[in-house]
Amino acid sequence: MKAVQLKEFGGPEQLFIGDWETPTPKANEILVKVHASALNRADTLQRMGRYPAPKGDSPILGLEMAGEVAAVGSEVSLWKVGDKVCSLLGGGGYAEFAVTHEAMALPIPSGWTFAEAAAIPEVFLTAFQALVWLGKLQEGERILIHAGASGVGTAAIQLAKLIGASSIVTASAGKHALCLDLGAEHAIDYKSEDFAEAVNDHTKGKGVNMVLDFLAAPYFQRNLNSLSVDGRLVILALMGGIKTEEVNMAPILRKRLQIIGSTLRSRTLDYKIALTKALKERTWDAFEQGQLKPVVDSVFSWEKVADAHRYMEANKNKGKIILDLG
Ligand SMILES: NC(=O)c1ccc[n+]([C@@H]2O[C@H](COP(=O)([O-])OP(=O)(O)OC[C@H]3O[C@@H](n4cnc5c(N)ncnc54)[C@H](OP(=O)(O)O)[C@@H]3O)[C@@H](O)[C@H]2O)c1
Repeated sequence: MKAVQLKEFGGPEQLFIGDWETPTPKANEILVKVHASALNRADTLQRMGRYPAPKGDSPILGLEMAGEVAAVGSEVSLWKVGDKVCSLLGGGGYAEFAVTHEAMALPIPSGWTFAEAAAIPEVFLTAFQALVWLGKLQEGERILIHAGASGVGTAAIQLAKLIGASSIVTASAGKHALCLDLGAEHAIDYKSEDFAEAVNDHTKGKGVNMVLDFLAAPYFQRNLNSLSVDGRLVILALMGGIKTEEVNMAPILRKRLQIIGSTLRSRTLDYKIALTKALKERTWDAFEQGQLKPVVDSVFSWEKVADAHRYMEANKNKGKIILDLG
């Protein structure tokens, strides 16, 4: 098969399509003919050599895909050849074929394109884990979602609405309309406003019950300040930096705050299977009925994978960037 590979770690120019061994499904795995994959920030870090694939996973980039089942392992009972599925992957999505555990695959909602289906697994599983399992967001609560127009952010806005919680987002000004359209109640231009002051103003001093953060160090103090009593801060990335010189920790005790970090990719297969099952049970009807939707920013032919990476690294996307594999 053909797969996207790296000449060496570095910029998007290192990506090329070449021959690679077609994976063989294990007893409980399915082999999928990939029609669409999608970009994630992690792919750009892996390309630069800063986020290696976990042991046992394909070193090929790509954390999700959508396609058709091409072969099944000897013990597979959930799928047959020809079924249309999408799945989270530990790696290997940027390739003509990928393998996944049968319980990690999700049926493609009726009428959806492969491009739309490829936009779901990574960001909805990540946002579901963060909001429901880690942050325990409840109906009637309020969440601050940073990078609201990112893939994960757009999924989080929709999931908050489904839960019955309201959301405030931070995003570049040009991305506010999308966030509001998806259900956010307020959008903050973090480039021209101090987001903590804006949260304080908007909530009339009450603050938010949960913060979903990807920026880490430069936002840490202001995230603590933005939370209300019993608030939860879930940190999923370190895009802004890892070290902060001074933190006033008093709000952590005074407001009984919880600070939670997580990476989905490093979780065990059993955990990911349980998460996939929980996401399906809670959201698949909502996807079928159009209450939840994938947010596709753009579709690049996979021959243009380097351009797709450049586009993401220029922070141009609102929602997901898809790779079309034909
Ligand atoms: N821990 C986990 O399990 C997990 C799983 C999936 C993803 N993630 C992380 O979640 C984050 C979002 O992922 P994604 O794939 O959804 O991202 P994405 O679609 O590429 O969106 C990232 C957006 O973040 C905003 N941003 C704000 N400050 C930034 C900064 N300093 N550097 C870069 N971007 C900045 C930009 O939008 P504006 O123009 O609005 O600033 C940018 O478009 C990434 O950091 C990713 O690594 C974590």
